Amino acid sequence: MRIPASIIILCLITVPALGQGLDQGLDQGLDQGLDQGLDQGLDQTTLPEGTTARKLILPSAAFRYAGQVLPDHISEVSKLFDNTPDSNPISNDGATLGRVLFYDPTLSANGSTACSSCHTQATAFTDARRFSKGFEGREVDRNSMSLVNLRYYRPGKFFWDQRAATLEDQVLMPIENEVEMGHHLPSLVSQLQQDPIYPALFRKAFGTSKVTEQRLGRALAQFIRSMVSVRSRYDLGRAEVTSVLDPFPNFSEQENYGKEQFFGRAKCSECHLPEIESGRGAARQSAFFQLEKPLVNGIDSDSVEVDGGVGASTQRSEDWGRFKSTSLRNVELTAPYMHDGRFRTLDQVIEHYNWSVKPHRNLDSRLKDFAANGLALPEVEKVALAEFLKTLTDQNFVNDPKFSNPFVPAK
Ligand code: HEC
Ligand code: HEC
Repeated sequence: MRIPASIIILCLITVPALGQGLDQGLDQGLDQGLDQGLDQGLDQTTLPEGTTARKLILPSAAFRYAGQVLPDHISEVSKLFDNTPDSNPISNDGATLGRVLFYDPTLSANGSTACSSCHTQATAFTDARRFSKGFEGREVDRNSMSLVNLRYYRPGKFFWDQRAATLEDQVLMPIENEVEMGHHLPSLVSQLQQDPIYPALFRKAFGTSKVTEQRLGRALAQFIRSMVSVRSRYDLGRAEVTSVLDPFPNFSEQENYGKEQFFGRAKCSECHLPEIESGRGAARQSAFFQLEKPLVNGIDSDSVEVDGGVGASTQRSEDWGRFKSTSLRNVELTAPYMHDGRFRTLDQVIEHYNWSVKPHRNLDSRLKDFAANGLALPEVEKVALAEFLKTLTDQNFVNDPKFSNPFVPAK
């Protein structure tokens, strides 16, 4: 059989064959085959007995990750939001290496769990489960986050509580997290150095085949920064009008009415589409559906019994209860919602803002009126708002081969 335009690297994996477990791990990880009784030492660097073939398919000319073309309403503001550091610009080969690492379960202590086990493309890189399971089958304590447009989160800090100061720092943390992947970075570095597939990929990305923690972090961060979603029906409509408040020609009446709620009475845009300073003063951007900084949206009452978010990590009273939010882009696909995945549907989310905002010392001032009186959207407006949110779904993004699993499970 001829396989055009692809390089296929066939090689041995450096962890024991997991049989079913491996297939499942590669299968964008639903439940992992974890009860395999593996007791692989963390320092394992040689190919153990019972290894199995692993097939990697990459295009002969790398996919284009660098210099993506953005629609006008996005390119205008993208520079103001971009958190890419000068020391780590995206290159096509760097992001390709990041892609392979992202889908490789050998980054976990027992070869069962890849980043993609908890961040699947079909769900815009979050997890459909309320609490993802780590390499030993134990549950994590917060809901997984969608990885859409992280490049354009202006504060450039990551996790629900922002405890990671940069994306380059963040991407290494799950590898050593004792519930998530349980590996040890120095031993992972030597494992990858001896893995047949990696030295060549590191050479392409960074000029030499040397594997280092810093390069590992940089490659993963490049891949994640390249995950840009800008081709939803919302974007198509936005491109055709002067102001985001104009009706979009490609929307139904109901979707346009839902948009009116989002930007008007329901105040969603005030937090989820923060204003930017332009030459003519502050103006609402219409590109990145992310918060400007972590906020309190009143899902919990003010109590030490509940997850304190940023406050639990900084120990400052004014931070108690604050969380960042993931982008609302692709929100139709990213259920369940909120830092603990408490809401299963968008209707439940809207109902929260409608009648259930709880008082809190740090509640954002934009929600005080809802806490006191409710938002009180009638049924027609609620349904329209949910329909508008669904226009943010970007099928091109969730089906784009350049973000997909490059490993083919061995038959
Ligand atoms: C076992 C499940 C699991 C695995 C494996 C996992 N993650 Fe996550 N990821 C999560 C959860 C849960 C959160 C939110 C945790 C928190 O905020 O405390 C998260 C958050 C993130 C964030 C922060 C997003 C933001 O907007 O702040 C990034 C980036 C990320 N993960 C990337 C990765 C990468 C890269 C890997 C592999 C090296 C990985 N994850 C492996 C579950 C997982
Ligand atoms: C005061 C600012 C603010 C306003 C106004 C606001 N939100 Fe939020 N929103 C947040 C914060 C903060 C979070 C994250 C809370 C958490 O997980 O603890 C959030 C989370 C969400 C999420 C979950 C995201 C995810 O991936 O889990 C959705 C969906 C959402 N908001 C939709 C809306 C809608 C629809 C409106 C308008 C009715 C709205 N928001 C109004 C601040 C706000």
